[in-house]
Amino acid sequence: MLLNTDMARLDVMETFHNISFPGHLHTQDSLNYAIHFPFQDTDTVIATYPKSGTTWMQEIVTFVKNGGDPHLSKTVPNWTRAPWLEQYYSPEVLGASQGHRVITTHLPYHLLANALQDSKAKVIYVTRNPKDVAVSYYYFHKMANFLPEPNSFDEFLDQFLEGKVNYGSWFDHVKGWTSQARVNFFYISYEEIWLDLQGCMERISSFLECPLVEKDLTRSVRHCSFSSMRDNTMVNYTLIPNEIMDHSKGHFMRKGKIGDWRNTFTEEQIGRFDNVYNSLMQNCPLTFLYEC
Ligand code: A3P
Repeated sequence: MLLNTDMARLDVMETFHNISFPGHLHTQDSLNYAIHFPFQDTDTVIATYPKSGTTWMQEIVTFVKNGGDPHLSKTVPNWTRAPWLEQYYSPEVLGASQGHRVITTHLPYHLLANALQDSKAKVIYVTRNPKDVAVSYYYFHKMANFLPEPNSFDEFLDQFLEGKVNYGSWFDHVKGWTSQARVNFFYISYEEIWLDLQGCMERISSFLECPLVEKDLTRSVRHCSFSSMRDNTMVNYTLIPNEIMDHSKGHFMRKGKIGDWRNTFTEEQIGRFDNVYNSLMQNCPLTFLYEC
């Protein structure tokens, strides 16, 4: 099991192609490795902006690809069974994995476009209502010691809207990934999964060509519920030491809700957010379940 216990570089930010990444997890070498990665046609890639349901999709894909068997989910941490391509440990993990790999990435599409260009790897892109992303990201900054300590939510929101947060602009990320024309591309939102986990799992099993019989589907849905994942140490990040993720300041599996942004945003912040959203997303054909 690979445990991410390296305390070094907690305060370092790595800038790559004008985007900052936590230096605790990324180096110039690891980021360069990612953008030149030789994808295989049998790879499954989970691409997300942070806090959009990455871990949830890793768990769903684990169950779909393993016929509903919980063994992997209960014994191997998510970052080992579906490593982040751009993080420093991925060459070691991917080098050791055989056959059908599940690879996660937070990189924007333009940085992976060349590497993905000639491959038939299947890509699953998950989006989430950006207001919920901003709130979830804010609370994650409070507990993750490898991210800058945020002051107020108001200040964090400005940084989020300006794209001046780690992993770059949410707007660029979503526009980049959803406007490319890959064949093996599956788009889904956190909200769709939340509203119909079983139906989404069926769609994902069909996209990945990994059929699930009914009893395995039912079992998978149970294991991928918020309460089950919250109690699973292989996905709830409690294996990460307090020096890196301060579990006294919050939980990775925080609320798992849709539309919870209403409890944080003020009317003024909603207006500020909507102005930026409307101006930056006007040519983007997606609609998000905003008013949940
Ligand atoms: P909240 O902070 O709003 O609770 P990521 O994995 O991309 O970092 O996303 C983390 C967010 O997904 C957190 O949101 C977390 O609670 C939520 N999440 C993870 N598993 C979930 C599940 N099974 N059901 C609902 N939400 C889930």
